Amino acid sequence: MSEFRAGIVGAGFVGQIHAETLRRLGNVSVVAIADVAGAKAAAERMKIPSYYADYREMIDSAKLDVVHICTPNRSHCEIAMYALGHGANILCEKPMTTSIRDAEALVEQVEKSGLVAALNFHNRFYPMTHHMRNVIRDGELGGVFSVTGSYTQDWLLEKTDYSWRLLSEESGKTRAVADIGSHWMDLAEYVSGQTITEVLADFSIIHPVRKKPLRHTSAYSTEKFSDDGYEDMRVDTEDNANILIRFGNGAKGSVFVSQVIAGKSVAISLLVGGYKKSAEWNSENCNKLVIGRKDSFCELLEKGPTTVHPDTLPLVAYPLGHLEGFPDAFKQCFRQVYASIGDAAAPRDYATVKDGLHEVVLCERIFESNQRQQWVRV
Ligand SMILES: NC(=O)c1ccc[n+]([C@@H]2O[C@H](COP(=O)([O-])OP(=O)(O)OC[C@H]3O[C@@H](n4cnc5c(N)ncnc54)[C@H](O)[C@@H]3O)[C@@H](O)[C@H]2O)c1
Repeated sequence: MSEFRAGIVGAGFVGQIHAETLRRLGNVSVVAIADVAGAKAAAERMKIPSYYADYREMIDSAKLDVVHICTPNRSHCEIAMYALGHGANILCEKPMTTSIRDAEALVEQVEKSGLVAALNFHNRFYPMTHHMRNVIRDGELGGVFSVTGSYTQDWLLEKTDYSWRLLSEESGKTRAVADIGSHWMDLAEYVSGQTITEVLADFSIIHPVRKKPLRHTSAYSTEKFSDDGYEDMRVDTEDNANILIRFGNGAKGSVFVSQVIAGKSVAISLLVGGYKKSAEWNSENCNKLVIGRKDSFCELLEKGPTTVHPDTLPLVAYPLGHLEGFPDAFKQCFRQVYASIGDAAAPRDYATVKDGLHEVVLCERIFESNQRQQWVRV
């Protein structure tokens, strides 16, 4: 097994998960971290030997095999370009970029470089979503005519809830759609084997003016300040998106995406309807999958080495009854990405920069559709 040196850019919520996940792989040393704020403290906290305020300095000096890009969306492209230009493979957080032009340039740069460039659409790596994809590919459901679901959260419900994601200059033109809708769309396309070809979107903003804390707060912070601890902030990105979808094979579907539904912290649901059976997965019960039938009992499958599709077996780390969740999906994704470095024949279920470009195009078309209140071709 090859040994790798990894560096992480961005020491926030997801950067810390990348560091922890990499250590679980066993053949990756997290040798450096870069963050514009508090890199030293983050390195000490995470026991990472070197730290940098500037990611360029890290890439220039730390001899990295892989750069993990865990910063706000706007900076992904420039960091990825720099890393690839200096011979490092990349594992980039989603959404890949905030514009189609940047995403296309990145695809071109990856093709020129011959390096591995992966997107962390980790929902593909739950054993039961992977199983669902494999049984659909094998024809167990019959032809697919419907793909529906939702991705709902509540962490931006209150007027005082704040994140850089509320700023379109950091997040991109869409917010909920780029942040979590991109996860759902990638999963829906990957699992159903179908591509989204047309969209009709209707957005809403529940707080057109929010209260931005005057002091820095981290993502998902529940910290509250006195009334004079905030300034008013106009919001130009959606809290909710209702999207009707048409797929390449004629299947139809819809997704509801929201960051303001009380009681939903991370709730992803996906229901695929076929002419013979249906399949339904929910992230809140991610070790289970329901295969629906009309004239007989429905099957409730539980993740385990004896229950999953043979192609999903490599994603199952523990026996039946031993739950695997969000950090495990990251682990399986990263394991595949690292295994594919220098091995063209290794399995690649992970999202590539082409998938990343496709999701950026989808976000842009969904934005246009809401503006025009019309169907838009992708
Ligand atoms: N795959 C997932 O499930 C998942 C989950 C959460 C976040 N994400 C993605 O990860 C990215 C980061 O999100 P987060 O929640 O960790 O945000 P965060 O705000 O918690 O952390 C971002 C960090 O990046 C640092 N930073 C900003 N610009 C920088 C730059 N130019 N160079 C170096 N450091 C910089 C900030 O100081 C901060 O520490 C986003 O693109 C988000 O969409 C993905």
